[in-house]
Amino acid sequence: MASLRWYYHLCACISLMVGFELGLVNGQYYRQVGSKKLPYQTFTVDQSGHGNFSTVQSAINAVPSNNKYWICIRVKAGTYREKVMIPYDKQYIILKGEGKKKTWIEWDDHDNVAQSPTFASQADNFVAKSISFRNTYNNPINNNPRAPAVAAMISGDKSAFYRCGFYGLQDTLWDVQGRHYYNKCTMQGAIDFIFGAGQSIFENCSIAYFGKALEPGLLGYITAQGRVGPYDSNGFVFKGCTVHGSGSTYLGRPWRGYSRVIFYNSNFSHIVNPKGWDAWNFVGLEQQLTYAEDGCYGPGEEDASQRVGWSNKLSQADLNQFTSISYVDNEGWLNDRPF
Ligand SMILES: *[C@@H]1O[C@H](CO)[C@@H](O)[C@H](O)[C@H]1NC(C)=O
Ligand SMILES: *[C@@H]1O[C@H](CO)[C@@H](O)[C@H](O)[C@H]1NC(C)=O
Ligand SMILES: *[C@@H]1O[C@H](CO)[C@@H](O)[C@H](O)[C@H]1NC(C)=O
Repeated sequence: MASLRWYYHLCACISLMVGFELGLVNGQYYRQVGSKKLPYQTFTVDQSGHGNFSTVQSAINAVPSNNKYWICIRVKAGTYREKVMIPYDKQYIILKGEGKKKTWIEWDDHDNVAQSPTFASQADNFVAKSISFRNTYNNPINNNPRAPAVAAMISGDKSAFYRCGFYGLQDTLWDVQGRHYYNKCTMQGAIDFIFGAGQSIFENCSIAYFGKALEPGLLGYITAQGRVGPYDSNGFVFKGCTVHGSGSTYLGRPWRGYSRVIFYNSNFSHIVNPKGWDAWNFVGLEQQLTYAEDGCYGPGEEDASQRVGWSNKLSQADLNQFTSISYVDNEGWLNDRPF
């Protein structure tokens, strides 16, 4: 106890000397300047050599293992041709580009979902802003045969994405596990392009169906959610999103037997297939799935009367539970971050 108090005195002393307070909440640190929370430290990544680092990965490598101090990695505009990985022991990173059409991280690995991600984040407490992740193997359209090619794989808890882009064709965003929040992001792809067992809210996102990159006549699948058991808390909630593109797509199919996906107050263009959902390998077990739409509108919702008979209508209580921010954050972690 005495040594802890001594440590805080030391911190207060340092703060006085340099003019900021060292904020400490839930064992994580940021700088408090007046009412503003700022990252403890900022690294700049610039390809032209004017920053602290010229690749994104080298900046991540410079974050110490078991980090508890929010560090902002600012990535200047440009296309960074590299695979980027944030290991589980490097928490409290903010990865900030200059705009989702300006700062790109791209690579083109393919074949399987585990080896292909251009960007992988395993650490808890991660934030990305104004940056895009692309797997270029099948996006933009080219002559490569179609294959699983992940743009981003997110497996840490308490991870948030603001104005980010995820571009691919098959298996674009692997939302593996953990509580995640996506705001004003763009997800592009055609087959199972948002998949995994994350407990996630996608709010005001643009779901860009890339049907024109598919073989003619083939239907796509926006989601392949992977909830395994009836008591698992995960699921995908799309709130205030826009679903658009060209071709025809299902809203989802179950990667695992208790798949759960909810579209709420979202705008569907004509690309949504009237059947809505596909049972894939779980024909006969559809009652295990939770596939619901509520408050959606637009041309793709007009023929919703033709949806598969086993899609769900949620009670108001369930709707409130899934569409409230507390579904991913009942501790305040989303607001307890320095930007
Ligand atoms: C990054 O570069 C800035 C500007 O040159 C410098 O002040 C800062 O100390 C550098 N930070 C690191 C971690 O090298
Ligand atoms: C989402 O969009 C709606 C409609 O534009 C807006 O009222 C709301 O504030 C947005 N919410 C967030 C969290 O961005
Ligand atoms: C729905 O989205 C389309 C674009 O796909 C847009 O033109 C239309 O205005 C939107 N509708 C509403 C009511 O926001």
